[in-house]
Amino acid sequence: MPPAAGAVWPRLRPRLRACLDLAPRGGPVADVGSAHGRLALALVRREPSLAVVATEARAGPAAELRRGVAASAGIVIAVGPGLAPLRGRPLRGAVIAGMGGRTIVAILADGDDVVQGLSWVLLQPMQGTDLLHTWLRRHRFRLRAAARPVEGGRTYPTVLVAPPCG
Ligand SMILES: C[S@@+](CC[C@H](N)C(=O)[O-])C[C@H]1O[C@@H](n2cnc3c(N)ncnc32)[C@H](O)[C@@H]1O
Repeated sequence: MPPAAGAVWPRLRPRLRACLDLAPRGGPVADVGSAHGRLALALVRREPSLAVVATEARAGPAAELRRGVAASAGIVIAVGPGLAPLRGRPLRGAVIAGMGGRTIVAILADGDDVVQGLSWVLLQPMQGTDLLHTWLRRHRFRLRAAARPVEGGRTYPTVLVAPPCG
């Protein structure tokens, strides 16, 4: 039985809270460009048996991330750009949040081999939403769920999509 909202991950603000709420349960999952690691932490707190791979593109931010998640059980840190550090890892889904739509498109396109092995991808661009959504439609990703959290007077369109089969 999950605890009441806000009881276990009290510092998750609406933008990341929407990611947590849209992320399907079950894993392993990746949080790409995890930064502070707040979402990765919330995912394992919600589901203690979950395996999460939290990534950062470079060593500096990865050191911050390591400090952020400390030695939290279930979280493995991987360093490298985009989906590259996820190659060869069995994963069910991936979150890419807090980057521009153009960057997210580049990450998905460069990591097509990784994307094809995923059941879902959760995307939350900071800008460039139309560009991202057009690309997703063109590449036949299927929309499974969407949310529009508001934080600090800004709306953050968030989508859960399934990659095209085969
Ligand atoms: C604004 S933060 C967002 C952090 C968190 N995902 C969130 O939504 O709050 C963006 C993070 O993505 C990382 N990043 C940017 N480009 C990346 C890439 N190509 N691959 C992996 N991480 C990347 C940055 O280092 C930064 O830590």
